[in-house]
Amino acid sequence: MNRSVFIYGLEESTINFIQPFVQREDTTIFKVEDLDSLLENPPTFPPCLILCGPAGILISSEEAAQFFRGIFQETPVYFLIEKSHNFDRVSFKKNGFNDVFILTLDFSLIQSAIESALTSIKSLRAFRSVKLIDLCAGVQLSFDLWVFLPANNKHVLFLRAGEIFSSDRLKKLQFENFNSLHVTLDQIQLFRDYTSSRLLKNLSQDGLSTTERAEKLKESVRILLSGLIGNHSKVGTFSEGKTVLVECRKIVETFMSFSKSGEFYSRIKIALDDMSDAYTHSSNVSTFATLFSLGTKLGDPETCSMAGLLHDVGMVKVSKEIQGLREDQLTQDQKNILHSHVQAGLDYIIYRKMIIPEIVKNAVAQHHERPSGSGYPKKLQSQKIIIESQIVGIADCFDYLTRVVPGRKRLTPLEAIHSIYQDSVSGIAPHAFDPKVTQAVLELFPTV
Ligand SMILES: [Fe+2]
Ligand SMILES: [Fe+2]
Repeated sequence: MNRSVFIYGLEESTINFIQPFVQREDTTIFKVEDLDSLLENPPTFPPCLILCGPAGILISSEEAAQFFRGIFQETPVYFLIEKSHNFDRVSFKKNGFNDVFILTLDFSLIQSAIESALTSIKSLRAFRSVKLIDLCAGVQLSFDLWVFLPANNKHVLFLRAGEIFSSDRLKKLQFENFNSLHVTLDQIQLFRDYTSSRLLKNLSQDGLSTTERAEKLKESVRILLSGLIGNHSKVGTFSEGKTVLVECRKIVETFMSFSKSGEFYSRIKIALDDMSDAYTHSSNVSTFATLFSLGTKLGDPETCSMAGLLHDVGMVKVSKEIQGLREDQLTQDQKNILHSHVQAGLDYIIYRKMIIPEIVKNAVAQHHERPSGSGYPKKLQSQKIIIESQIVGIADCFDYLTRVVPGRKRLTPLEAIHSIYQDSVSGIAPHAFDPKVTQAVLELFPTV
């Protein structure tokens, strides 16, 4: 079996020190540089050992521990440090590291810890925390479902793939209040397929009335978004919110690949591939807009999804300096340049000869228009504005408020959606959306 050891933030001298113990024929050493892409594309089989150090890492060592622990629950994570000066081993262990070693003092301890991780015959599993939607008795899952028992600090198999969810099982789930359900990483795509097909089914199911369908969709989106809100005490951790967001995005991507717009959608994604800088924002907006549209039954979710991806493609024409400023810091000239990104985006779509539905282009063209006429570029009034552009606009503001922007306090998802709603009621730019629409979106979030 091919095993891998991940190293992150280790000094060069530390790497040289541990190399003789780690270097084996069946072991690959993988230097982790970018945590975001690891979160995005984790290996299906977890590493058998993770070695962390303090060198050049952008997050605190505690956050690094939580990050790796969050993705690879069963892999030992060790911290290696070269100086023992001012160093509190107990606090490091409390923060998630399995152990901490000081070089070269702990020479034999390090050697035997590495040796034991590399020779362990136990095959490791990595789990993703998931939210199951549309669950009822009779549902058959194509993946194993695990629950986490904090008292024993371990995962226990709750329902095997192929087994039918009996009402007893369902009751047990509700009764025990297992709010942390898990799926192993090697089966995670099956979970995404399940979620996407349930969403699509409820979008088109014939047997149900329109109201029943709307209720089911609303409830499903509420469950998915509740993962994003998470446990309030933990939402600030580095990886928690990000992992849920990545999961929501993968669900939307799967949903789109199953939908009738799948072809258009994948072409847009290919066209955006070379614009990786702005991609995170666009894909977040696409994810939120799709979920908002599905949950509120306002607009067409597929249009929202595609328009979300494309809404800011014109930003390539706007300097990073202008993009980095807040609206109130811009001179009139800079404002004009910023506002030109909408037309630049439409020009880009034509230039790239992208074949996409007209309604998607309209949603892109209008994502900064507001019903009161206070938006841009055309200052359109409400009757001329399509609903999809407003859903994308709300998702856009939501992502902006919840991300890190220098000089501005980052809001939690709940604070952000409440602030957008309040501003829409008071008609405050840039959130002067129709309050009926923002209220419908607000209802998708849990009340606290
Ligand atoms: Fe924009
Ligand atoms: Fe945007």
